[in-house]
Amino acid sequence: MFREDFVWGVASSAYQVEGRDPEDGAGKMIWDTFAEEGGIQDGMDAMVSCDHMHRYKDDYKLMRLLGVKAYRFSVNWARLMPEGTGAVNEKAVALYRDMIQEMKRNGITPYLTMYHWELPQVLQDRGGWLNEDIIGWFGEYAKVIAENFSDVCEYFITLNEPQCFVGLGHLHGVNAPGKKLSYEETFQIAHNALRAHGQAVINLRKYASRPIQVGYAPTCGMAYPASDSPEDIEAARQVLFSFHNPMDNWTWNVAWFSDPVFLGKYPEEGMVKFKDYLPAITEEDMRLISQPLDFMGQNIYNGYIIRAGKDGEPEFVDRTAGFPKTAAGWPVTPQCLYWGVKFLYERYQLPLYITENGMSCHDIVSKDGRVHDPNRITFLDAYLSALQKVSDDGVDVRGYFLWTFLDNFEWNKGYTERFGIVYVDFNTQKRIVKDSAYWYQKVMETNGAMLSINEKERPILFLNPVFKQMIWGGSRLGSEWPYQIPGDNTGECWAVSAHPNGDCTVKEGIYAGCTLSKLWDQHPELFGETGYDRFPLLTKIIDAKSDLSIQVHPDDAYAKMHENGSFGKTECWYILECEEDSALVIGHHAKDKQELDDMICQGRWSEFIRELPIKKGDFVQIDPGTVHAIKGGIMLLETQQNSDITYRVYDYDRLTDGKPRQLHVAQSIDVITVPAKPAKESVMEAGELPKNRMNLLISCDYYKVWKLEVTENISFEQEYPFLIMSVIEGEGLLNGQMIQKGDHFILPCGYGMVELQGDMQIIASAV
Ligand code: BGC
Repeated sequence: MFREDFVWGVASSAYQVEGRDPEDGAGKMIWDTFAEEGGIQDGMDAMVSCDHMHRYKDDYKLMRLLGVKAYRFSVNWARLMPEGTGAVNEKAVALYRDMIQEMKRNGITPYLTMYHWELPQVLQDRGGWLNEDIIGWFGEYAKVIAENFSDVCEYFITLNEPQCFVGLGHLHGVNAPGKKLSYEETFQIAHNALRAHGQAVINLRKYASRPIQVGYAPTCGMAYPASDSPEDIEAARQVLFSFHNPMDNWTWNVAWFSDPVFLGKYPEEGMVKFKDYLPAITEEDMRLISQPLDFMGQNIYNGYIIRAGKDGEPEFVDRTAGFPKTAAGWPVTPQCLYWGVKFLYERYQLPLYITENGMSCHDIVSKDGRVHDPNRITFLDAYLSALQKVSDDGVDVRGYFLWTFLDNFEWNKGYTERFGIVYVDFNTQKRIVKDSAYWYQKVMETNGAMLSINEKERPILFLNPVFKQMIWGGSRLGSEWPYQIPGDNTGECWAVSAHPNGDCTVKEGIYAGCTLSKLWDQHPELFGETGYDRFPLLTKIIDAKSDLSIQVHPDDAYAKMHENGSFGKTECWYILECEEDSALVIGHHAKDKQELDDMICQGRWSEFIRELPIKKGDFVQIDPGTVHAIKGGIMLLETQQNSDITYRVYDYDRLTDGKPRQLHVAQSIDVITVPAKPAKESVMEAGELPKNRMNLLISCDYYKVWKLEVTENISFEQEYPFLIMSVIEGEGLLNGQMIQKGDHFILPCGYGMVELQGDMQIIASAV
């Protein structure tokens, strides 16, 4: 679980949301110029954006209504100090102070970022980040921030994502100020930025009116291991802090931007790799850069997969075809909030805040006037679950700021990417709370308790049947059913079984490959409260090419005493196929125990055996003590207690390998019920029952069995400890998955709504 005082917030930046006002006294900054020069998609700019500077009171009210407890925002340097240094714009002081106080009136803790890429244009004109004077300029800006806001704000972050403003802004030229500088220059810029950060930390603390908390918010993709093997984990850890990127992408680097700040030195590997391009780096620089911080911020959006190669060297693993992506094309990799956070914390050992995380989606307003964004919910749930897991592992995670509250100006992408949990109509400035915001509200309210990591997963358990070859078996399970059978004498398909003589495995999903018996032992939550010490039922399909022996089963008490504690065997049959004028052996003609003894011992089989006619769709309950036999040509679905105890009374004197099969005459005589249940109570017609509802065929001490014929859309709540289903005809959909004849599955306890449609017949059972 997350700490009790975990900080649940949202994040934004000044330029992305504020907008401008001709009267606001703000200076121009590099993004204004970049926009004027056509650097933004569709020729957009941020002169209005979310108009937050005029609407923040309502925006914070909305945050309060949605339960947001903390807001990471940034101050636009050029708004506060239009010339970059010197004069302070009092209108900006008043605006930001009022914003902060308004946040607090709404119960929202402010986290102020000093630099979210908003460099005053006048400073850019003087060389910007390339000019070493920026250390002094930024220090002065920090002083102004501390003097004007530290009485109302306690948390400060110096730089946002130096990787981006150095790399995207000065190496690739896709962000303001749109430069494509040499490697030497970009290393100088990075070094200046880190020194400016250090100077800001000093001045923030020095000029603050009270003790404050200061942090830093770098970013990067996070390496995560392909598996949980120690080798893969070590390989991922190595790569995360290494220098694998080609030179023209060098700024995507964790260690270069974090080791100096948190560890006081540039990483050795980088010093070697970059030696030709580095500026002079002094010990004094390093002291300045590594000012003690109170926390480490990290903006984490995604990661890449690493494994240990055969030679032990780390390898990059390709993402599989169809790997999930956000609307911005970023991979969806929740593992980065587990492994990335773990690796960072191990190395830097500071309390950590996720200062940004979120996704852009193709959000649209639906006809109901709302914005449904299930993908964002799925994304956030997975990422936050990973974050909880790492916090459970002991990493000191203090807070999470979702990027972002309002859809806003996404830098060079203009308004084409919507990252918000609140939709903004940029033509009318109307805000519409997206589904994800309501969801995040619950997450915040419950301190993460409602995340899926805290729920036991309850997937549909599709099973792999086990096949049994029998002397009387046939080949229809292979020809008429979609199974790979072991031979043309396959008599039984153990479709849902946890019996040691044929334990089914789960076909797919998180429990794939697990036997049903193991699942029963290890995940009792899937099977509800039944009181049984083992999985109680067994579902089989039987294909009898020739007659089965005449047999009888014991009840629980008899089996327990004589068969090593086994269950007795009560079973029932739904007739799937049979020839015309077919019959089953059900019951016998002996009137009393004496006659039973005589008939069996004297082999008066034709007098003894009672045959009853049956047809496709008939249903027969075989209680313990019932003499019975399946005849050749019949296929049926059997639901029974989880037992394999059968007493053979008579086998038509057949020989297998020259010998008769073993009989169990004494036990049979012990357990056979005399007289037998009357013939008319023994077979029930179940071929034509009302459609689209569960028709109860039997309810006895051991199971309930239903027949369900689906021809329309139907839905019902799964309210049994667990519900077994076998599709015996046709095909359809079950909660978004196609199912068809031959599928057998279990809907676990608490599964919820079951939605079925199609054209199919199902036999269901439960205890
Ligand atoms: C930045 C934000 C940006 C977000 C989504 C981060 O790199 O700090 O300003 O909007 O990612 O691209």
